[in-house]
Amino acid sequence: MSDLSARTIEAALRHSRLGRPVYFFPVVGSTNDEALRLAEAGAPEGALVVADAQSAGRGRAGRGWHTPPGTALAFSVILRPGVGHLSRVALLGGLAAAEAIEAVAGLRATLKWPNDVWVNGRKVAGVLAESSLQEATVAHVVLGVGVNVNAGPPPDSTYEYPVTHLSAEAGRPLDRLALLASIVRRLGEWYAEIGSERVRQAWSARLQWRGERVAVGSLVGMAEGVDDDGALRIRLDSGEVRRAVAGDVHLRPVSRE
Ligand code: BTN
Repeated sequence: MSDLSARTIEAALRHSRLGRPVYFFPVVGSTNDEALRLAEAGAPEGALVVADAQSAGRGRAGRGWHTPPGTALAFSVILRPGVGHLSRVALLGGLAAAEAIEAVAGLRATLKWPNDVWVNGRKVAGVLAESSLQEATVAHVVLGVGVNVNAGPPPDSTYEYPVTHLSAEAGRPLDRLALLASIVRRLGEWYAEIGSERVRQAWSARLQWRGERVAVGSLVGMAEGVDDDGALRIRLDSGEVRRAVAGDVHLRPVSRE
C-alpha cells in the first residue's frame, strides 16, 4: 500500500492535467473549506487539497461526511470554468470517480442521481461542488470527492441509502494513492471536454435505475438519463419528459401496481 503524502501524490499526478500544486493535510476540518480558502487567496486552477482524515467533512444538503484516518479518500480540486459550465462540474466528479473505481477496484460502478457513486446497490462515494460567484462570473468552483475505500462509515450512522466501502465489495484492500491518481487524471480529461455532449452521454450511461421506473418527489416515470446541467430526465406514462432538478429530493425505484 502506498503512503498518502504531498510527495507521493505529486509524483503520481506528474502527467495529469489537474492536481498541481498539492496541499496535503493529515487532518483537516473539510478539504472543501480549505480549498475555498486557498482559491480565495489566489491558488491556481487545478490545485488539489487532500486530507488523510476530516474532522468536519460535509456532504450534500447539510449532511455530514465521515472520513476516518488511514482508510478513505477525501479531496477537493479548485476549478475555474466559464459561468455556462458551472452546473456540469459536479457531473465530472461522479463520472471520474466511477470510472476510476472500475479501473482500480475492478467493480462496476453506477451513478445514483444527483451524484453518488454506487457499487452493488450501495453508496461508496459522494461529490460536493461548491462555487463562489463574483459579479455574475464564477470566481471558482471547489469540487470535493469522498470515497469509502478500506472502511465504511461507523455502523451507528444514519444514511438515506445503504452504504459500503470498496474493499468490502472487492474482497481485498485497495491502494488509496492509485485510486486518487486515477480519479484526478480522469477528472482532468473530462474537464477538458466540459462543454461536450460526451459528458452527458457517459454520465447517463451509468445512471442507476436507467430505463426503470422511479419516483423523485411527486414525479413518477422511467429514468432516461441526465441533461447537461445535471437535471434528471423522467419519461412519464403520458410520454411527456419532465426534468427533476437536484434539491434534497429522494430518488427511488418503484414497482408498477
Ligand atoms: C455527499 O454524498 O453528500 C457528498 C459527500 C462529499 C464528501 C467530500 S469529502 C471531500 C470534500 N470535503 C468535504 O467536506 N466534503 C467533500
